[in-house]
Amino acid sequence: MKKLPILIDCDPGHDDAVMLMLAVGSGLFDIKAITTSAGNQTQEKTLKNALKIITLMDADIPVYKGSEKPLFRELIIADYVHGEMGMDGPSLPDPVLKHEPLSAIEAIAQILTESLEKITVVPTGPLTNIATFLLAYPHLKPKIERISLMGGGAFRGNITPTAEFNIYVDPEAASIVFNSGVPITMCGLDVTHKALVFQKDIEMFREIGNKSGKVVAELMDFFSIYYRRERPELAGGAALHDPCSIAWLIDPSIFISKPCHVAVELTGTLTAGTTVVDFFDVLKKTPNVEFVYDIDRDKYMQLIYNAVQMLP
Ligand code: RIB
Ligand code: CA
Repeated sequence: MKKLPILIDCDPGHDDAVMLMLAVGSGLFDIKAITTSAGNQTQEKTLKNALKIITLMDADIPVYKGSEKPLFRELIIADYVHGEMGMDGPSLPDPVLKHEPLSAIEAIAQILTESLEKITVVPTGPLTNIATFLLAYPHLKPKIERISLMGGGAFRGNITPTAEFNIYVDPEAASIVFNSGVPITMCGLDVTHKALVFQKDIEMFREIGNKSGKVVAELMDFFSIYYRRERPELAGGAALHDPCSIAWLIDPSIFISKPCHVAVELTGTLTAGTTVVDFFDVLKKTPNVEFVYDIDRDKYMQLIYNAVQMLP
């Protein structure tokens, strides 16, 4: 079966790491590159974490360093979720690989220019790198098949009452992406707060018996600390956000989505960084997003389990 060509832009990050393991372990993707964004932790740390996960999987995928900070704002990190190093919990060997000399933006431009086919872009952190690329290389937009992103939400926030972290960190970048005209699949908090990993799932990963299963379990052990303390509404589950953007590419039938118009609030005193999702189409604007809002959680977890089983 022909593999789908993709570019991944992420800020590892516990759930980014599991997303990478799903992408690689599924065997369904031709991963042209991984670029790293600043978000869950600083660029230095997310870059190192990406290299560590690639090393763990013994995957031959080039990694490129992205922007150190948002387009116009100071960087906000999520160390309160992901810890001091951004992927706390498992002790992973230092990466044997180094990142490539090209910048993330130059790498995306080179890969899209040279590709004979369109490429799907999968961002799971703040959208700074993707927005910068779109601003610098607008002529390459037609080479992007789709952007399948984790970010935003219609009915709740996680860093403010209405804004989701990835969008909130760089709302101007998000606005550029949502207004780009490129087809977008948006996996926001509405679906990711149903994509919950529970203790029984964590033990399932631990019992796989390979290195990767053990690392997934230890990542989720740490990741769950925040969610059990701060999100009792999730009944002990942790929102496994980022793998949704890859899982939708693997099997959209395990999700429910609808075309919606989505805009990003940039200036609201209380609502800056909010994705304003016109879920009921009250404005009658042309939809710019496939808005994902429900999931078959068991099938989702099975996809990840099957992929992790295939890893070292
Ligand atoms: O709000 C959740 C998102 O922010 C996820 O992508 C998580 O990794 C963090 O980047
Ligand atoms: Ca992320």
